[in-house]
Amino acid sequence: MSTLTVKDLCKTYIVNKRQNNVLKNINMEIREGEMVAVMGPSGSGKSTLLYTVSGMDAVTAGSIDFFGKDLSRLSPKEMSGVRLNEMGFVFQQMHMLKNLTIYDNIILPAYQAAGGRGRGSRAKINEQAKALMHKLQISEIAENAVNEVSGGQLQRACICRSLINHPKMVFADEPTGALNQQNSKEVMRELNRINAEGTTILLVTHDIKVAAKSDRILYIEDGSIKGEFTLGRFESETEVKDRERRLSNWLMEMGW
Ligand SMILES: Nc1ncnc2c1ncn2[C@@H]1O[C@H](COP(=O)(O)OP(=O)(O)O)[C@@H](O)[C@H]1O
Ligand SMILES: [Mg+2]
Repeated sequence: MSTLTVKDLCKTYIVNKRQNNVLKNINMEIREGEMVAVMGPSGSGKSTLLYTVSGMDAVTAGSIDFFGKDLSRLSPKEMSGVRLNEMGFVFQQMHMLKNLTIYDNIILPAYQAAGGRGRGSRAKINEQAKALMHKLQISEIAENAVNEVSGGQLQRACICRSLINHPKMVFADEPTGALNQQNSKEVMRELNRINAEGTTILLVTHDIKVAAKSDRILYIEDGSIKGEFTLGRFESETEVKDRERRLSNWLMEMGW
């Protein structure tokens, strides 16, 4: 089943009366359960692609079908409902609220989604938050402030937050961009795990080690998809080196 189908997507920014055609006729399809990485030079439109296909930013032309819903036809209120309930977001700049604890940051979107729906749903949210934090091995930092934890712990907390409402799909923009090798590896292990449990993932990365753990790589250059490379399902650490080698050969062909 298709999760996300993008047809002839164009995005143009106008800055100082000059038109910048950032995305030019993008066509792509992400299947349910896939993990797809977007790579390409800086400024090629990777973040813009992620933001437009997830409805965070309006498109100039084209259509985006997300689980049978045409996102361009939704009202702003419907769109924010889809983003809150069906999508999860992880960013390089982590956007955590500094005056809240890690735990409160994680449950915030769930409390927003639950609205005023009373104690029963709050108990469920707390249960879900605790289970996620346990799974991502950050239970011990629940009551810490945002500036009292490591970068890797903070990014794992962001992943918990992105999963709190059981999204169908997670969008991640350079989720390991601010992390060292070790933390980056931990974050990827968690993204692979939630993907194996069924969450579809679209991520942007410039790190070959990160992209090599996804099913498929899209290479974007100057606002167009220039090529795509299927690595297949990532099953075990023993194939990592081989996947990295195949990916890096292909990236060289792409002019990376
Ligand atoms: N909000 C915006 N307003 C105007 N121009 C933008 C905006 N966001 C991105 N751009 C422009 O779009 C192009 C692609 O940016 P981006 O998608 O961030 O690239 P990447 O993530 O691949 O580095 C750049 O030329 C950038 O200046
Ligand atoms: Mg970017």
